[in-house]
Amino acid sequence: MTTLTPILSQNWDRPDSFTIDGYRATGGYEALRKSLAMDPDSIVDLVKQSGLRGRGGAGFPTGMKWGFLPKDNPNPRYLVVNADESEPGTCKDIPLMLANPHVLVEGVAIASYAIKSNQAFIYVRGEVVHVIRRLRQAVADAYAAGLLGKDILGSGFDLDVVVHAGAGAYICGEETALLDSLEGYRGQPRLKPPFPAVAGLYASPTVVNNVESIASVPGIVANGAEWFTSMGTEKSAGFGFFSLSGHVTNPGQYEAPLGITLRELLDMAGGIREGHRLKFWTPGGSSTPIFTDEHLDTPLDFESVGAAGSMLGTRALQIFDETTCVVRAVGRWIAFYAHESCGKCTPCREGNFWMVQVLDRLERGEGTEADIDKLLQICDNLLGRSFCALGDGATSPVMSSIKYFRQEYVDHFEKGGCPFDHSRSTVWA
Ligand code: NAI
Ligand code: SF4
Repeated sequence: MTTLTPILSQNWDRPDSFTIDGYRATGGYEALRKSLAMDPDSIVDLVKQSGLRGRGGAGFPTGMKWGFLPKDNPNPRYLVVNADESEPGTCKDIPLMLANPHVLVEGVAIASYAIKSNQAFIYVRGEVVHVIRRLRQAVADAYAAGLLGKDILGSGFDLDVVVHAGAGAYICGEETALLDSLEGYRGQPRLKPPFPAVAGLYASPTVVNNVESIASVPGIVANGAEWFTSMGTEKSAGFGFFSLSGHVTNPGQYEAPLGITLRELLDMAGGIREGHRLKFWTPGGSSTPIFTDEHLDTPLDFESVGAAGSMLGTRALQIFDETTCVVRAVGRWIAFYAHESCGKCTPCREGNFWMVQVLDRLERGEGTEADIDKLLQICDNLLGRSFCALGDGATSPVMSSIKYFRQEYVDHFEKGGCPFDHSRSTVWA
């Protein structure tokens, strides 16, 4: 039986967990002190050895990304923290930054030192004003304590950190759209390659990392790579937040080793709401193919979830019981993608618009069998043909729901309307 590993969340119950004094009282900023006595390249090697993989969804090895920065480019290097968390169901970075902003600030300082950057940005989605205020306070307190700014802790290393508020566009979580937005342009994805590591912010070498990835770094420096690899699986090392939401008795953040299963997480979360049973769920937000009760024992690590036909993504486990109409749920998600499509490429801009029309028609019971095939055909024109991951991601709930619940789509038009009583499903409330 896998147990929880409260590491980033271990002090969240302390009333002062978000203050610099509270953080330092529990050993905070000691990893920064240790790092500044190390050679920067050895920190990059340490993070490589830890096997830490990006916690923003894609799971790209963090140390390898840091190692991609070209050694012969004379431009300044930048660290940009992607705190634009917006994937439906994803709600881990925001509580982390609220409860423990200093672990992120410390991670930023260590990562910047490791990659030899003197300027870092934390790009936060604009709607979460309370998080932005808290982060700015944390950054100001770190400056006042000599943990940011000039000659940090007498090491000779200088670092400035800016907390930047985005304007609330989902696409600005895509790293290159984020960089455009940070530069003051309309946020739209850039062509890759070049990857940001080579030409990112202001065309300079840039590392873009997720909040949780950077917040994991102080622990790795403090405890070593073996400590980190002792948790999780061989290829998905360490721990992470699993965000349980929807029809679960105790929704919330469960910090656990990668490889834990939904069955184990549900045991800890009090199970599906009383009197109901699991129907479908997302392993990593709505951009990942849905799973059903067949997948309760799939280890939630990058490899196992991939082998079972989905993606670990952001570990946003949205749980739906038997009262939920899958056609309606998918329709809601696609309406989101249609709204958030940046419009740069035709497959995504047009495809999502058309999928909303077809899903609405099907949900009202006015569709036909041909509409189901039409949805699959639109997905075929989106998947692999979109400019960025938003378009690809939108196909995931559509194709997977038809795979597992095609008969439910058919029932809508055979029965002349949605067979579900939406008032029984709290997710629409
Ligand atoms: P990706 O796989 O294209 O890239 C992942 C990272 O690795 C990027 O930072 C990229 O620059 C880097 N990278 C990849 N190949 C590289 C190379 N050859 N050289 C240098 N760097 C390289 O994935 P992407 O598009 O960045 O992210 C997609 C994921 O984002 C999805 O799987 C989804 O789970 C997640 N996502 C998360 C959201 C959130 O709110 N946290 C929102 C939407 C999607
Ligand atoms: Fe914009 Fe969608 Fe194309 Fe991405 S896939 S570039 S979000 S239109």
